[in-house]
Amino acid sequence: MKKIAMLGSGFIGRFYADSLQGYRSRDKIISIYSRREESARKFAEDYQCEHWTTNMEESIAHPDIDVVCISLPNNLHEAAVMLCCKHKKAVITTKPLGRNAEEAKRMLLAVEEAGIFNGYLEDLVYTPKFIKAMESVKNGALGRILWAKSRETHPGPHSEWFWDIEQAGGGCILDLGCHCVEITRSYIGKDIKPVEVMCWADTQVKPIDAEDHAIGLVKYENGAIGQFEVSWTFRGGLDLRDEVMGSEGTIWINSFLRTGFDMFTTGKGADYVAEKAESNTGWLFPVGDELNELGYNHMFMDMFNAMEKGIDPKETFYDGYVVNAILDAAYKSAKTKQWEPVKLDIWRGQTGLSKESHLISYDADYYLIKEEMTHFGTKKLILKHKQTGKISEQIID
Ligand SMILES: NC(=O)c1ccc[n+]([C@@H]2O[C@H](COP(=O)([O-])OP(=O)(O)OC[C@H]3O[C@@H](n4cnc5c(N)ncnc54)[C@H](O)[C@@H]3O)[C@@H](O)[C@H]2O)c1
Repeated sequence: MKKIAMLGSGFIGRFYADSLQGYRSRDKIISIYSRREESARKFAEDYQCEHWTTNMEESIAHPDIDVVCISLPNNLHEAAVMLCCKHKKAVITTKPLGRNAEEAKRMLLAVEEAGIFNGYLEDLVYTPKFIKAMESVKNGALGRILWAKSRETHPGPHSEWFWDIEQAGGGCILDLGCHCVEITRSYIGKDIKPVEVMCWADTQVKPIDAEDHAIGLVKYENGAIGQFEVSWTFRGGLDLRDEVMGSEGTIWINSFLRTGFDMFTTGKGADYVAEKAESNTGWLFPVGDELNELGYNHMFMDMFNAMEKGIDPKETFYDGYVVNAILDAAYKSAKTKQWEPVKLDIWRGQTGLSKESHLISYDADYYLIKEEMTHFGTKKLILKHKQTGKISEQIID
């Protein structure tokens, strides 16, 4: 059993606590830090924590605590991580790791120097659908991954600090793009270097300094392309979708809306439907087991198993740092309107790759362009001659 200090009693702190303690888990939150006394006390009551405080360091330094879970606004992640280093406590932190790569790099170097366990809580690479999709990608069912797209759009976050660019560090690119980038990066291969980013961003609706809508492309060294689509202005709930295109196959995942559970109600007795649902009447799309569908259960299982075995979890601060570096390039590109290089001072994956060959041989003389069965019953081959480059058609009966 691991004894946990939860820092932050808000939206994600409670989702995490429900996942950690809601399934007879052997791990237990024993200390809660929150900014306001009444929130700390209420959380302690709701989750039977023996210790609550409004002093962050007191919670981290508590002698019984094995691991600290950071569920604080983005501008407080670094200070909390540094305190974990000081007190040599294992640390798992929510996304994004930093407000930018500079902060993320400092956190990465600090935890590694302190020699403490570090986990990056990117839940969306732990959803049951993602895990299954990733298995198929790994076993080659999709062939070479050419394009991976991920979308997270919703009507905007629930607390005031998200809307303040100083505290949040950015708008929807940072808040939602961090998920999409790690999802697409995982499909393409986490050891494949992201090299350049092109991004459009704008503030289309909300009266804020940050962007509320953005679309970006991330180019990888092996020629694959990642795409993110993020918005705080989308109406209709929380849209979470992935698309993966490979040379041998395709995956489409819808994680939150239209997942196969449609319900109609006049509104009688209706209350909470699903995260960021905008309505509780009419046709609704509830999400079966939200904690599981959003990946929290599999994520904590990986984190705590890794901690016990003394190995790295699937997602570490290093991954958080790479994501921040990609998003920094996206912000730069949105301003310059150019492809911007991803600046990675620390890179632990493959280097020197070039675009993989796309040539498929048909025989010694020809490359295969396409094979098709026509509606009139003949099979056609479209071929390219290896020497002359001439493109021709062959009909096979
Ligand atoms: N799916 C996800 O992984 C996911 C979802 C939502 C939020 N998050 C992340 O979780 C972190 C917290 O977000 P949230 O949605 O829980 O926010 P929130 O506003 O609901 O909760 C933040 C909590 O931090 C504490 N706090 C301490 N000092 C504070 C300060 N100065 N200002 C505001 N709060 C302070 C409070 O206990 C507060 O309840 C953010 O980094 C956010 O990006 C992750």
